[in-house]
Amino acid sequence: MTKKIVVTGGAGYIGSHVCVELINAGCEILIIDDFSNTHPEAVNRIREIAPGNISLLQCDLANAAQAEEIIEGVKAFGADGAIHLAGLKAVGESVAEPARYYTVSAMLTLVRALEAANARTLVFSSSATVYGELNDNPVKEDGKTGPENPYGRTKLFIEEILKDLSRGNENWRIVNLRYFNPVGAHPSGRIGEDPNGVPNNLFPFIAQVAVGRRDKLMVFGDDYTTRDGTGVRDYIHVSDLARGHVAALDYLSAQKTGGATDINLGTGTGYSVLEAISAFKRASNRDIPYEIAPRRDGDVAEIYANAELAKTLLGWRAEKTIEDMCADHWRWQSDNPDGYES
Ligand code: UFG
Repeated sequence: MTKKIVVTGGAGYIGSHVCVELINAGCEILIIDDFSNTHPEAVNRIREIAPGNISLLQCDLANAAQAEEIIEGVKAFGADGAIHLAGLKAVGESVAEPARYYTVSAMLTLVRALEAANARTLVFSSSATVYGELNDNPVKEDGKTGPENPYGRTKLFIEEILKDLSRGNENWRIVNLRYFNPVGAHPSGRIGEDPNGVPNNLFPFIAQVAVGRRDKLMVFGDDYTTRDGTGVRDYIHVSDLARGHVAALDYLSAQKTGGATDINLGTGTGYSVLEAISAFKRASNRDIPYEIAPRRDGDVAEIYANAELAKTLLGWRAEKTIEDMCADHWRWQSDNPDGYES
């Protein structure tokens, strides 16, 4: 097992859950986060849930002036590898302000830091959004790529850069994890998703309606060719997803040769928007008023994962149900109605 792991974006929604699972697996971690889209309180909560050896470097990987500090910090930490989660993630924003999204230099600073530490092991947080529209479900890793927006393209471009790295130097061991739709929260209710402003994604929006912060949900389209006309997605509990990162590091440390592998992290089951609303209603015992609205630009009708490769290579599979996802998401939302500011 790789022991000293750098987690960029470690204070974020997925990052905080990854940190907890790494500590539980016996790792020491160095969180690199600039808190531009995250909250320092998340780091306190990680320490509370999973006491262990947690260091913090408050830096922006995309800021060239901070690159040397990051490289020195990773070297001094004695890193064995890294999980790269830092980055912006709002699809609409990426369309409006693409230049903020094409910060490939952030990735390259991390690469330089890992080279300086002689630790060429990297797990990258990619996304199912790299897949094009034309694949049959469940989608396999060799499905056609073709992201619809700058956010998705940055994920695909970085996957490609990492493949080039592994071709150039056989010591690079890389996994690109293609996440489906992470939802839920740690069962303690202490860490969870804390979106800035109006949530873009379904679950945080439903949760804010349930807790009374918003009046109603807009369901984007009920005329898709799906079982109830609403969009179908593969929702995965964020703690299951986080365990997938630990499994990916274990896998990489057991590899005799380098390489870069794309692996889906999903459950293999799709739920519609209306099914997600019903499940959340049951879990929260709250009403979730909603209204049917026009389709959202860029949405596909249905996408869910073929999750077999993760089983075969990583020995990992998602264990939590949609009921777990809703119950844990609701516990986080109701215990922290205003997120980390509560
Ligand atoms: N939806 C609504 N109303 C909302 C929000 C979403 O009906 O207010 C619907 C969408 O139309 C879609 C489903 O709920 O059918 C899921 O939408 P999300 O926005 O939660 O997630 P996406 O599948 O659109 O995926 C996006 C990004 C991914 C990213 C994912 C989770 O494209 O890269 O969000 O952050 F991984």
